[in-house]
Amino acid sequence: MKKIKKRSFSSQFWSQRYQENRTGWDIGEISSPLKHYIDHLENHQLKILIPGAGNAYEAQYLFEKGFKNVFVADISETPLKNLKSRFPDFPKNQILHLDFFEIEDTFDLIFEQTFFCALPVASRLDYAKKSAELLKENGLQIGLLFSFPLTGKGPPFGGSKEEYLTYFSPYFEIEILEPCYNSIPPRQGNELFFKFKKKPVNSGEKH
Ligand SMILES: C[S@@+](CC[C@H](N)C(=O)[O-])C[C@H]1O[C@@H](n2cnc3c(N)ncnc32)[C@H](O)[C@@H]1O
Repeated sequence: MKKIKKRSFSSQFWSQRYQENRTGWDIGEISSPLKHYIDHLENHQLKILIPGAGNAYEAQYLFEKGFKNVFVADISETPLKNLKSRFPDFPKNQILHLDFFEIEDTFDLIFEQTFFCALPVASRLDYAKKSAELLKENGLQIGLLFSFPLTGKGPPFGGSKEEYLTYFSPYFEIEILEPCYNSIPPRQGNELFFKFKKKPVNSGEKH
């Protein structure tokens, strides 16, 4: 029988982690690199997606700064309920209880913060492809990727710049993929900041 590839850990797996407060990834606020990037963003009309958003501190930060076209998605309902009760002003129809791979919409910008590293390693190319599909022409994906050796132990699963290039280069122009200079202290030296721009769909690359 053909083995079916597991694209994500289950919603139950993640909900249990939230319910038992085993959420080492959750820093309780927007991360400094994303805050810095957002503080320099001027176009408030951008349609933005935060996938695997968890408690979605970036969404609240963006919304309060006047970016109203922000969507969050998570496979687990638990953190989405947290967002609703913590920040009732956030539009309910912009909170998507969905598997990232099932989202059908397009965005100008996607933010990444400890979601990629939470997927099974075998899903990495699918993640890059799906991210490109979710972006409009010239759309951007911005965020952080861990930079520590990939082992069988995780999530979070590590990786390297060289490895990440193999997934993202077919779909994106790599504008930035560099060690992050303004990580939160516990992640210093262990993160890459990236800015990828979607390649034109008929650029001759395999999509
Ligand atoms: C490590 S947590 C990170 C949460 C948040 N980004 C943060 O930094 O606090 C990974 C999140 O991705 C969600 N997730 C995992 N697989 C997913 C999928 N296929 N689609 C959407 N969300 C997913 C989990 O429920 C969890 O909230």
